[in-house]
Amino acid sequence: MDLSTTVNGMKFPNPFVLGSGPPGTNARVLAKSFDAGWGGAVAKTVSLESAKVVNVVPRYGKLRSRSTGEVIGFENIELISDRPIDVWLDEFRQVKKEYPNNILIASIMEEYEKSRWQELTRMVQDTGVDGFELNFSCPHGMTERKMGSEMGEHPDLTEEVTSWVTEVAKIPVWAKMTPNITNIREPAQAAIAGGANGISAINTILSVIGVDLNTLRPMPTVEGYCVPGGYSAQAVRPIALRMVSQLALAIPDDVSISGIGGIENSHDALEFMLLGASTVQICTGVMLQGVKMVDELKEGVEKFMTDKGFDSVQEIVGKSLPYFSTHMDLVQKMKAAKRSKAGEASRDNEWAQKDITEKTAELTSN
Ligand SMILES: Cc1cc2nc3c(=O)[nH]c(=O)nc-3n(C[C@H](O)[C@H](O)[C@H](O)COP(=O)(O)O)c2cc1C
Repeated sequence: MDLSTTVNGMKFPNPFVLGSGPPGTNARVLAKSFDAGWGGAVAKTVSLESAKVVNVVPRYGKLRSRSTGEVIGFENIELISDRPIDVWLDEFRQVKKEYPNNILIASIMEEYEKSRWQELTRMVQDTGVDGFELNFSCPHGMTERKMGSEMGEHPDLTEEVTSWVTEVAKIPVWAKMTPNITNIREPAQAAIAGGANGISAINTILSVIGVDLNTLRPMPTVEGYCVPGGYSAQAVRPIALRMVSQLALAIPDDVSISGIGGIENSHDALEFMLLGASTVQICTGVMLQGVKMVDELKEGVEKFMTDKGFDSVQEIVGKSLPYFSTHMDLVQKMKAAKRSKAGEASRDNEWAQKDITEKTAELTSN
């Protein structure tokens, strides 16, 4: 079965893409995932000055099921890449040389300054990466420098910064949305007005994973203190699915969606595709299960396509969208269904099932 799919002119061997984060943290791990069979990868977000990026330890926290201990939610306070841009440029080149058929997307982020965004865009583009993802969505740490979700939460900034990038980009540009807003359609439409070819959604949801009842400290705790971080893994999936469907129903057909948030297997991936995602990205799932999880993703989607008679991945995209409606419409549909059931009940073959006197009374109006 051919799982390849072309999105904004980029030919993905399959729609499974590593989400920006630890799974795309350097050339070695990117190579490992392409060897394992991933169609594409969004590398860890890069910026011009890695020296400004200082990570803390610990920076992750898990929420477990009370009954099984399974990880259902994951919080991180990790920043963007702390590796120098020159090293990254070499590695982008190297990965593209070794894996010309896999799609490599560079995630970029900068301060609110046109020259910085354009310089970064040009530098990275020259390495031969296939596309850009603009990180308007990291909800912690970088926001203190007015980066990340500080831009994604303000549609005017989203549009402006996207247009700075698209002015110099010769390759497709996706804009990655923050879910930490009321109406995700607004920044998405702003990014599209700025020239974005695709929308990636969602980044993490602002959260506090818990409080240590012994020390009274919120977690993750660094030297006794804490900041809210980004929530991911299966607990966020329903929110991500809702946002992806809202985007798919609102944005033009030629703007692609890359669905992200709590995808852990082929079933989850298919849900995103049915609601409008052309590709799916996975970050925490890979951190918890390893890159080999792509085997099940491929097998599960292939089986679904065979069972349901889909010939290409593109055919799946958006297939469940026509079934969203309004509450008022659901009420009307329910009433109509009741009426038609009542109609059926009045047919002659119903007579034998009930006492004839009872049926006569039922059909009598006085
Ligand atoms: C540890 C960690 C680091 C991340 N770093 C980045 C990043 O550098 N850039 C980015 O755009 N998203 C980053 N993300 C967000 C993920 O790409 C993804 O949008 C989010 O985690 C939801 O998907 P998931 O449930 O598959 O992880 C990070 C997520 C995690 C868990």
